[in-house]
Amino acid sequence: MKILIVNGPNLNLLGIREPDIYGREDYDTLVDMIEDHAKEIGVEVGIFQSNHEGDIVDCIQDAMGEFDAMVINPAAYTHTSVAIPDAIKAVGIPAVEVHISDVDAREEFRKISYVRQVCVATVSGHGLKGYLEAMDILAEGKA
Ligand code: DQA
Repeated sequence: MKILIVNGPNLNLLGIREPDIYGREDYDTLVDMIEDHAKEIGVEVGIFQSNHEGDIVDCIQDAMGEFDAMVINPAAYTHTSVAIPDAIKAVGIPAVEVHISDVDAREEFRKISYVRQVCVATVSGHGLKGYLEAMDILAEGKA
Protein backbone atom coordinates (compact mmCIF):
# COMPACT_ATOMS: atom_id res chain seq x y z
CA MET A 1 0.00 0.00 0.00
CA LYS A 2 1.22 3.53 -0.85
CA ILE A 3 0.04 6.41 1.35
CA LEU A 4 0.50 10.05 0.39
CA ILE A 5 0.90 12.52 3.28
CA VAL A 6 -0.10 16.09 2.36
CA ASN A 7 0.62 19.07 4.60
CA GLY A 8 -0.62 22.60 4.01
CA PRO A 9 0.64 26.08 4.84
CA ASN A 10 2.89 26.90 7.78
CA LEU A 11 3.33 23.28 8.81
CA ASN A 12 6.94 23.63 7.61
CA LEU A 13 7.35 25.94 10.64
CA LEU A 14 6.44 23.29 13.20
CA GLY A 15 8.52 23.74 16.35
CA ILE A 16 8.83 27.50 15.78
CA ARG A 17 5.19 28.27 15.17
CA GLU A 18 2.93 28.70 18.24
CA PRO A 19 4.62 25.84 20.13
CA ASP A 20 2.00 25.93 22.87
CA ILE A 21 -0.56 24.86 20.26
CA TYR A 22 1.48 22.80 17.78
CA GLY A 23 4.28 21.49 20.00
CA ARG A 24 8.05 21.88 20.00
CA GLU A 25 8.89 19.17 17.50
CA ASP A 26 9.88 20.39 14.05
CA TYR A 27 8.76 19.35 10.56
CA ASP A 28 11.77 17.06 10.04
CA THR A 29 10.83 15.20 13.21
CA LEU A 30 7.32 14.72 11.83
CA VAL A 31 8.78 13.37 8.57
CA ASP A 32 11.02 10.95 10.52
CA MET A 33 8.08 9.77 12.65
CA ILE A 34 5.97 9.11 9.54
CA GLU A 35 8.80 7.26 7.75
CA ASP A 36 9.57 5.12 10.82
CA HIS A 37 5.90 4.27 11.28
CA ALA A 38 5.53 3.41 7.58
CA LYS A 39 8.33 0.84 7.98
CA GLU A 40 6.72 -0.57 11.13
CA ILE A 41 3.33 -1.12 9.51
CA GLY A 42 4.72 -2.11 6.11
CA VAL A 43 3.46 0.70 3.87
CA GLU A 44 5.22 3.04 1.45
CA VAL A 45 4.83 6.79 1.93
CA GLY A 46 5.25 9.96 -0.10
CA ILE A 47 5.40 13.18 1.93
CA PHE A 48 4.49 16.61 0.53
CA GLN A 49 4.19 20.10 2.07
CA SER A 50 3.24 23.36 0.40
CA ASN A 51 2.15 26.83 1.38
CA HIS A 52 0.22 27.18 -1.92
CA GLU A 53 -3.31 25.92 -2.51
CA GLY A 54 -2.82 25.23 -6.24
CA ASP A 55 0.32 23.18 -5.57
CA ILE A 56 -1.66 21.07 -3.09
CA VAL A 57 -4.37 20.53 -5.74
CA ASP A 58 -1.67 19.53 -8.27
CA CYS A 59 -0.16 17.10 -5.76
CA ILE A 60 -3.55 15.46 -5.13
CA GLN A 61 -4.20 15.17 -8.88
CA ASP A 62 -0.74 13.68 -9.46
CA ALA A 63 -1.50 11.03 -6.81
CA MET A 64 -4.05 9.42 -9.15
CA GLY A 65 -2.81 5.94 -10.07
CA GLU A 66 0.24 6.41 -7.82
CA PHE A 67 -1.16 6.25 -4.27
CA ASP A 68 -3.83 4.08 -2.64
CA ALA A 69 -4.68 6.39 0.25
CA MET A 70 -3.99 9.86 1.59
CA VAL A 71 -3.47 11.57 4.95
CA ILE A 72 -4.11 15.29 4.63
CA ASN A 73 -3.67 18.23 6.97
CA PRO A 74 -4.74 21.16 4.79
CA ALA A 75 -3.91 23.51 7.72
CA ALA A 76 -5.58 26.92 7.22
CA TYR A 77 -6.99 25.77 3.85
CA THR A 78 -9.18 23.35 5.81
CA HIS A 79 -11.42 26.30 6.63
CA THR A 80 -11.37 28.09 3.26
CA SER A 81 -10.65 25.79 0.34
CA VAL A 82 -13.23 24.19 -1.92
CA ALA A 83 -10.58 23.26 -4.51
CA ILE A 84 -8.84 20.82 -2.16
CA PRO A 85 -11.92 18.71 -1.31
CA ASP A 86 -12.95 18.87 -4.98
CA ALA A 87 -9.55 17.41 -5.92
CA ILE A 88 -9.83 14.64 -3.30
CA LYS A 89 -13.27 13.75 -4.65
CA ALA A 90 -12.06 13.90 -8.25
CA VAL A 91 -9.21 11.43 -7.74
CA GLY A 92 -11.31 9.10 -5.55
CA ILE A 93 -8.42 8.27 -3.20
CA PRO A 94 -9.57 7.50 0.37
CA ALA A 95 -8.36 10.30 2.61
CA VAL A 96 -8.11 10.88 6.37
CA GLU A 97 -8.12 14.47 7.63
CA VAL A 98 -5.59 15.25 10.38
CA HIS A 99 -5.16 18.25 12.66
CA ILE A 100 -2.43 18.52 15.26
CA SER A 101 -4.59 20.76 17.45
CA ASP A 102 -8.19 20.14 18.43
CA VAL A 103 -9.79 22.42 15.83
CA ASP A 104 -13.27 21.95 17.27
CA ALA A 105 -12.16 23.38 20.63
CA ARG A 106 -10.59 26.55 19.17
CA GLU A 107 -11.97 29.64 17.38
CA GLU A 108 -15.38 29.35 15.67
CA PHE A 109 -13.88 29.64 12.16
CA ARG A 110 -11.73 26.54 12.76
CA LYS A 111 -14.86 24.43 13.35
CA ILE A 112 -15.64 24.68 9.64
CA SER A 113 -13.87 22.03 7.58
CA TYR A 114 -14.61 21.74 3.89
CA VAL A 115 -12.45 18.64 3.51
CA ARG A 116 -14.15 16.67 6.29
CA GLN A 117 -17.09 15.71 4.08
CA VAL A 118 -14.83 14.03 1.51
CA CYS A 119 -12.67 12.21 4.08
CA VAL A 120 -13.32 8.76 5.50
CA ALA A 121 -12.21 9.83 9.01
CA THR A 122 -10.82 12.76 10.98
CA VAL A 123 -8.09 12.70 13.65
CA SER A 124 -7.91 15.99 15.52
CA GLY A 125 -6.05 17.14 18.62
CA HIS A 126 -3.73 14.15 18.99
CA GLY A 127 -0.54 16.06 18.18
CA LEU A 128 1.95 14.67 15.67
CA LYS A 129 0.98 11.10 16.52
CA GLY A 130 -2.39 11.85 14.87
CA TYR A 131 -0.63 11.35 11.51
CA LEU A 132 0.39 7.84 12.58
CA GLU A 133 -3.15 7.06 13.74
CA ALA A 134 -4.46 8.22 10.36
CA MET A 135 -1.97 5.92 8.60
CA ASP A 136 -3.20 3.02 10.77
CA ILE A 137 -6.84 3.76 9.90
CA LEU A 138 -5.99 3.61 6.18
CA ALA A 139 -3.64 0.62 6.40
CA GLU A 140 -6.11 -1.41 8.46
CA GLY A 141 -9.02 -0.37 6.22
CA LYS A 142 -10.85 0.70 9.41
CA ALA A 143 -12.78 3.57 7.91
C1 DQA B 1 -4.15 22.85 11.87
C2 DQA B 1 -5.31 23.68 12.42
C3 DQA B 1 -5.66 24.80 11.47
O1 DQA B 1 -6.76 25.55 11.98
C4 DQA B 1 -4.48 25.73 11.33
O2 DQA B 1 -4.77 26.76 10.40
C5 DQA B 1 -3.22 25.02 10.97
C6 DQA B 1 -2.94 23.72 11.57
C7 DQA B 1 -3.70 21.75 12.87
O3 DQA B 1 -2.95 20.89 12.44
O4 DQA B 1 -4.06 21.80 14.05
O5 DQA B 1 -2.38 25.57 10.28
O6 DQA B 1 -4.57 22.20 10.69
